[in-house]
Amino acid sequence: MLQCCINPSILSADFVNLEAELQRISNADAVHVDVMDNHFVPNLTLGLPVVQRIQAVSPVPLDAHLMISDADRWAPGFADAGLASVTFHAEASIAPVKLARELRARGSKAGMALRPATAVEPYLDMLEELDMLLIMTVEPGFGGQAFLDFTLPKIRKARAAIDGSGINVALQVDGGITEETILRAAEAGANVFVAGSAVYGAEDPAAAIGRLREAGSIKLRAASAE
Ligand code: DX5
Ligand code: ZN
Repeated sequence: MLQCCINPSILSADFVNLEAELQRISNADAVHVDVMDNHFVPNLTLGLPVVQRIQAVSPVPLDAHLMISDADRWAPGFADAGLASVTFHAEASIAPVKLARELRARGSKAGMALRPATAVEPYLDMLEELDMLLIMTVEPGFGGQAFLDFTLPKIRKARAAIDGSGINVALQVDGGITEETILRAAEAGANVFVAGSAVYGAEDPAAAIGRLREAGSIKLRAASAE
């Protein structure tokens, strides 16, 4: 059965108290760090020096989501910093296969993300170059947006291709994940779930992670029993 992973996004955390905010999600599988450059997306967050400090104090591994232009140039530096997983956007890379290989060569897992309107088919031949495929379920840039249901068929296509290939690629979804939408995303085949507002907007983030994990696991169990 697929493992259900819950990766809270610190985009919805209190940026002045990041160390304490990280301790509140110590039962997460990884912490999702959204890096935005105000160019690839119309928002600006944090860069490599801050990501390195987060890594130094985080109780769980880092899952960096780079929403930055010219990923070919900037993403390898995040892998050099020792991050467990680095995800770049396909739309921001000239040579995604070369970039994925560079990330792996530097010791990180290689992830590639697709915006909601980007088709997955052109990338299915390069699955073996990836450790994770991220299907965005909102337009990247901001937390707190509503889950886009039209991405579900794309998640299904990606799951069928991954299963058909026999390659171990995690299928991540990011944007609008709640205790309700996680059911649809898991049913479609996603197994790694990013949640920002659903975790940090809850009174008890660790309990919210537990509820999301339970909901996602039930659906993944049902799918594997089919
Ligand atoms: C959006 C980011 C997401 C965001 C998710 O561009 O990539 O990781 O933080 O936030 P929610 O879960 O609130 O949609
Ligand atoms: Zn993200």
